[in-house]
Amino acid sequence: GNKIRNAKLVLLGDVGTGKSSLVLRFVKGQFVEFQESTIGAAFFSQTLAVNDETVKFEIWDTAGQERYHSLAPMYYRGAAAAIVVYDITNAASFTRAKKWVQELQAQGNPNTIMALAGNKADMIEARQVPAEEARTYAQENGLFFMETSAKTAINVNDVFHEIAKRLLQG
Ligand code: GTP
Ligand code: MG
Repeated sequence: GNKIRNAKLVLLGDVGTGKSSLVLRFVKGQFVEFQESTIGAAFFSQTLAVNDETVKFEIWDTAGQERYHSLAPMYYRGAAAAIVVYDITNAASFTRAKKWVQELQAQGNPNTIMALAGNKADMIEARQVPAEEARTYAQENGLFFMETSAKTAINVNDVFHEIAKRLLQG
């Protein structure tokens, strides 16, 4: 029979990196140029079939604005997976992503599958974060890494698919 596995997933990252846009792309296949900044957090769910099994993601899209930082533990506690998002055109957002990884490693569940997403990969002409630097960082810290674009859809489904595969293996 076809088993359904529920999995709480949280997106964390600096304001404007594209967390909501990645979720909108994954859940609805859409992109909007003027995505509104998230207040608090937003919830979505989406299923993904991997072989003969189904993962039902319960997705918490958190707000990147610093004033909401204290809410984050509610969303990452008990999460099966976390996607830490930075913007490849914004070096400060990569620094912020590393802070999120540290916080997850210190406060989160050690079994949480962690992904690092370098978003806005369609804007290579404005790149500030070399892909190699992020890949090395991810390897050293036990995350898997992909550059994504919510705008063009590059690697967006792939991040969720990779998480689902790892969940089902674990
Ligand atoms: P907060 O909710 O404030 O934390 O921001 P967020 O991380 O959810 O970012 P959001 O999805 O709102 O995107 C911010 C802006 O970046 C929006 O204007 C998006 O259209 C744009 N954006 C998001 N993803 C991409 C992308 O992959 N490429 C490009 N070019 N723009 C993007
Ligand atoms: Mg948002």
